[in-house]
Amino acid sequence: KDGLETVTEGKLTMATNATFPPYEYYEGKKIIGIDAEVAAEIAKKLNLELEIADIEFDSIVPGVQSGKYDMGMAGMTVTPERKNSVNFSDSYATGIQKVIVTKDSKIKSLDDIKGKNIGVQTSTTGDLYATDDYGADHVKKFDSGNAAVNALKVGKVDCVIIDNEPAKAYVKANGSALKILDTDYAVEDYAICFSKDNSELQKKVNEALKELKKDGTVQKIVDKYIKA
Ligand code: ARG
Repeated sequence: KDGLETVTEGKLTMATNATFPPYEYYEGKKIIGIDAEVAAEIAKKLNLELEIADIEFDSIVPGVQSGKYDMGMAGMTVTPERKNSVNFSDSYATGIQKVIVTKDSKIKSLDDIKGKNIGVQTSTTGDLYATDDYGADHVKKFDSGNAAVNALKVGKVDCVIIDNEPAKAYVKANGSALKILDTDYAVEDYAICFSKDNSELQKKVNEALKELKKDGTVQKIVDKYIKA
């Protein structure tokens, strides 16, 4: 035993929100995706058994902060505000906030969004930035990106702001009904979060992550889920 303290002895408990392909989503009853596989490799290196808790996205940071979960991994963007509550690992991926619209939408650029209704997943960076830029009155919050996309399809919102890879997955799942604007709304870093009281785990995970990047494991997992 190397003295690594976790919520449940011998286990690495990861909080996520499995509505976010290709990072975390269900295949049957199993949560798969880039985060699930990278986390499994990290757990292996730490001699721990990975346990995934699927919770609301906006419960992840509080749950990690209060010590209910060992870490949060959910395509989560590092932000200054979140850093007030939790510590982050080194970044393992880049995300880009994108805008999804219907195929024949009048929205062609970020300027066209002003005054329109924007669908977002609650408490995501898409939610936070859109609220800042376009006003809370115009931001409609949903439990998942998928629910926001469904609202877009039936005209309840005029666009959806969400990370690029899930955006691609949602659009693909909808035939030719939707499209993604070329403009990038925001570019961000994804990382794993930890309680500020467990910098030992943060350190160990960073070491594991570094090795997994160096030996190509992270890239291999990314390539498996994201086809060029
Ligand atoms: N990158 C965005 C954020 O950190 C969205 C992440 C949503 N992740 C999820 N598993 N639903 O706010």
